[in-house]
Amino acid sequence: MFETLKEQPADKILMLMQAFREDPREAKIDLGVGVYKDADGNTPIMRAVKEAEKRWWETEQSKSYTGLAGDPGFSDAMIGLVLGDVVPRDSVAAAATPGGTGACRQGFDLIRMANPDARVFVSNPTWPNHLSILKHMGMQMVPYRYFDDDTCGVDFDGMMADLADAKAGDVVLVHGCCHNPTGANLNMAQWRELVALLQKTGATPMVDIAYQGFGDGLEEDAAATRLIASELPETVIAASCSKNFGIYRERTGLLMVVAQDAGKRALHQQTLNYLNRQNYSFPPDHGARLVTMVLGDDALRADWQAEVEDMRLGMLKLREQLASELQRLSGSDRFGFIAQHRGMFSRIGANPDQVEAMRRDHGIYMVGDSRLNIAGLNAKTVPILAEAIIASGA
Ligand code: LMR
Repeated sequence: MFETLKEQPADKILMLMQAFREDPREAKIDLGVGVYKDADGNTPIMRAVKEAEKRWWETEQSKSYTGLAGDPGFSDAMIGLVLGDVVPRDSVAAAATPGGTGACRQGFDLIRMANPDARVFVSNPTWPNHLSILKHMGMQMVPYRYFDDDTCGVDFDGMMADLADAKAGDVVLVHGCCHNPTGANLNMAQWRELVALLQKTGATPMVDIAYQGFGDGLEEDAAATRLIASELPETVIAASCSKNFGIYRERTGLLMVVAQDAGKRALHQQTLNYLNRQNYSFPPDHGARLVTMVLGDDALRADWQAEVEDMRLGMLKLREQLASELQRLSGSDRFGFIAQHRGMFSRIGANPDQVEAMRRDHGIYMVGDSRLNIAGLNAKTVPILAEAIIASGA
């Protein structure tokens, strides 16, 4: 029967990871997959996470199952981190998932269960795996304008015009902060306008928040998600702990459903439990446990916050260095947007040939749409990248 199978399109980001590994050049630079790296190119285990891991190794008594939605302490801790106190805890149903990708997948499944005809409005561009998962699930997608190629900022008027077509029963997928792949984000006034539009159209927001703390700060990066969740009748939120806790391979994420009508929570919770059971039964616990311990211990939490802040400031410094290097080399401000973008990524506006030339001639790997991972740089490689960008004609 398997002769009917067709080869599936390879994931561009993961393909690039592989190509980088296979490149024998010593001086190659990896600006591809969204993994944080320090100035030496390492992805460290965060101090507080390591400490929690030591404590857990000493105290863990059993490897028996947790609940279908994971440990409730993890949900509480993450709801606090993402939503603060803007919605009552009893209005949020939540389930632990394998990473933020798992949360997206379960969120889409929930939407499809509620309305098989739901159209999911996706930013153009968005994280390619959003599109791939939705396609795999046979769900309808409607792209909305998002990135303005001329300014490398948000095409807000285009976005609002396209989203005016969304209706009750449709879903509008947004990135809560640090838009992936562009790095261009809405300001708070624009988020408020978007909320008003969603209120008018009746479409349901789904927020993917995978980089909280990497943009303007842990609280600041949650502000849009909190606004949406407190103003709209129902909000779906997919949160990832991969990046801000540095626990990529532990697969740690949380799917939340916020309903202003708290009476709906029991049904939402039961549905999330059901979906976990159908797809993988119990979610992984190790990463979730570490996050719960870090967020629940004042000293560990303070240390974790300090380390996230150092990572964020380091990326901002690299952005500023790259923008000023490009200004010097190009004699213009046309790359100034790199310092304005936030998060791990910037789409720099190079075409696929220029991206390919940078890979071929300089061993610099970025995604074909010219998304680069700022954290893949350091003070020494920024000038090399800037030279390569200018040499490519971008
Ligand atoms: C990325 O966008 O590079 C990350 O989210 C990693 C991934 O799984 O694609």
